[in-house]
Amino acid sequence: MTLTIVGSQLGDEGKGALVDRWGGDADVVVRYQGGDNAGHTVVEGGVEYKLSLVPSGAVRGTTGILGNGCVVNPKTLFTEIDDLRERGLDPDVRVARRAHVIMPYHRVLDGIEEEVKADDDAGDEVGTTGRGIGPTYEDKAGRRGIRIADLLAPDVLREKLEYAVPQKRALVEDVYGLEIEGGDDRAEAFDVDALHEEFAAIGERLADEGMTVNCSDYLHRRREAGDEILFEGAQGTHIDIDHGNYPFVTSSNPTAGAASVGSGLGVTAVGDGEVVGIVKAYLSRVGEGPLPTELDGDADEEALADDIREKGGEFGTVTGRPRRIGWLDLPMLRHAARVSGFTGVAVNHVDVLAGLDELKVCTGYELDGEEIDTVPTTTERWERCEPVFAELDTWAEFDSAAVAEAGYDALPEAAREYLEFVADEIDTPIYAVGVGPDREETVELTNPFDE
Ligand code: GDP
Ligand code: IMO
Ligand code: MG
Repeated sequence: MTLTIVGSQLGDEGKGALVDRWGGDADVVVRYQGGDNAGHTVVEGGVEYKLSLVPSGAVRGTTGILGNGCVVNPKTLFTEIDDLRERGLDPDVRVARRAHVIMPYHRVLDGIEEEVKADDDAGDEVGTTGRGIGPTYEDKAGRRGIRIADLLAPDVLREKLEYAVPQKRALVEDVYGLEIEGGDDRAEAFDVDALHEEFAAIGERLADEGMTVNCSDYLHRRREAGDEILFEGAQGTHIDIDHGNYPFVTSSNPTAGAASVGSGLGVTAVGDGEVVGIVKAYLSRVGEGPLPTELDGDADEEALADDIREKGGEFGTVTGRPRRIGWLDLPMLRHAARVSGFTGVAVNHVDVLAGLDELKVCTGYELDGEEIDTVPTTTERWERCEPVFAELDTWAEFDSAAVAEAGYDALPEAAREYLEFVADEIDTPIYAVGVGPDREETVELTNPFDE
């Protein structure tokens, strides 16, 4: 069977932790979209791993695949693999030959576009991770992208660079009116010869280490052999380019449908399996865009947000930016459950909400005098939504390790009521409850691989 893990909110819901948790029962873990904008944390016995490209099954030694739907910065990938090797792991990672490559000019362009948007004071910068994700997907759609397979064929690589690079150069110089020359990194990023030398060498390493695969064919064969496949979504539903808060989104589809497109395994394989939405028990957002339940109304709310941020360690894994904090938003979860067809959810960070004086959940919005229960399709309308809150009972601090060991009934009663309220509202069963970052700090109600 397959298990697809999807972020239900705005990223950083704790997907890595659950992929690690259930990755022990999988034979292959596949990333199907995104790139090194992701930062997935796995904590095993107090030892923390932060993974951007290496799929989170690596800590358990499970084979990881970067599917054709991913955009891959091979330099980040090698650095991450080398770092993990130094730490005693031996990650087995393969990359789809159809996946697109993030080139140095994509990163430069990501930065330039964000700066230009920031300068015009229209508030339209996205707050990207600066990893070149958007510009790479643009080139993919524009049919001028460079794929992993091209790195293995130096002549093809040169041809593609000779087509793409002058266009990028013209974009920087003629559209943005900026200088490229100067002998610095920026100049190298637009130099065909320098790029060719660097990326042909990367191709050689990929080939030498046998790291590239025909993803669809590979996964099909693994499935035929009876292997279990876990799809590891990155980012989250509300920053999905189709279903999220456009334009404050990433440039791929984190939602479950992309597991098929981004890996080459049929929709029936994905649809036959389990699709588990990962939910943070409150909200965090890194980057720009609306957040109706944000705790930023007055000094008390800001102090509460600070407490939650500190306790939950809510600082971006990739960029270190402080994450914005809000109450759980059910309209957002209803949308996420529908778009991906969740068969279950895992609710994380229940420990972080312990010991609060008040606890709210947004059950719907008021917009232009009407009550609505789902997220409007435009940023302009979402921004004007006033959350309607339910107040729930709070719970006291508890011993996470003891609760995880004893099971669901050992959770404080008010925490169970909170979880059951959420499960009812989105009509989806709870498979797991996170009570801390460590692999052992998860209360498991259902292991999707046993279903
Ligand atoms: P991802 O991008 O969805 O994989 O999530 P991140 O790793 O970016 O952010 C989640 C953070 O919360 C990480 O530091 C995790 O170690 C941590 N985490 C995950 N689950 C829990 C939980 O249940 N409780 C607490 N306190 N931390 C958690
Ligand atoms: P994981 O997988 C949270 C956000 C960025 C920005 C927007 C676009 O760890 O949950 P991009 O660099 O993708 O073009 O930025 O998306 N973003 C994330 N936020 N978690 C992530 O990944 C994210 N990846 C991108 O902050 O708002
Ligand atoms: Mg993250």
